[in-house]
Amino acid sequence: MNGFEINKIIAAIIFTVLVVFGIDKFTDLLFQVEKPKEAAYVVEAPAVKTASSSSDSGSFNVKDFLALGDIEHGKNVFKKCTACHVVAKGGKNKIGPVLYGVLGRKSGAISDYKYSKALAAHGKVWSYEEMNGYLLKPTAHIKGTKMAFAGLKKEKDRASVILYMNSQSDNPLAKP
Ligand code: HEC
Repeated sequence: MNGFEINKIIAAIIFTVLVVFGIDKFTDLLFQVEKPKEAAYVVEAPAVKTASSSSDSGSFNVKDFLALGDIEHGKNVFKKCTACHVVAKGGKNKIGPVLYGVLGRKSGAISDYKYSKALAAHGKVWSYEEMNGYLLKPTAHIKGTKMAFAGLKKEKDRASVILYMNSQSDNPLAKP
């Protein structure tokens, strides 16, 4: 082995080291990804819960429900209620309490009306959903209510009468 060959071997070793080391650095350059300080995709949670998502029954969508309703039709449907209820402003209690402004009002809130114990203890605000549940089957929704009314089977009838009642109010509930 002469000096020339030793030089070649050393050169080869240095070359190999450089190549291996170089590839390593090179891939570092290629794949070095700076970690962002914040996650790139921040999924924004909606600031305000929508009416549908706040419904805990899961399936009740106020918007879709109300879309089925029609105030004029609701006025007609309300004829089923007039034997016991007045909805006009300044109306008197009959067999049932006066319903002017009932949407958004706390259940059992008419002070000169004598409610059943069940309704007096119900303690909920008449939201669209709450009213829908009560009008579907009063005695199932509030066990022990003295409202002797079978209920409105058709969703359209309920949505309509609720829209109509909501129009009979100083403070109608907002439409979602
Ligand atoms: C046969 C009589 C009768 C009919 C018909 C009737 N209701 Fe009632 N309603 C009552 C009585 C009685 C109560 C009080 C229930 C209680 O205290 O448990 C009542 C209570 C209510 C309440 C609760 C009011 C409050 O102040 O919390 C609502 C809302 C209501 N009725 C809506 C209706 C609607 C809408 C209809 C028609 C689709 C209707 N009712 C038909 C007798 C009736």
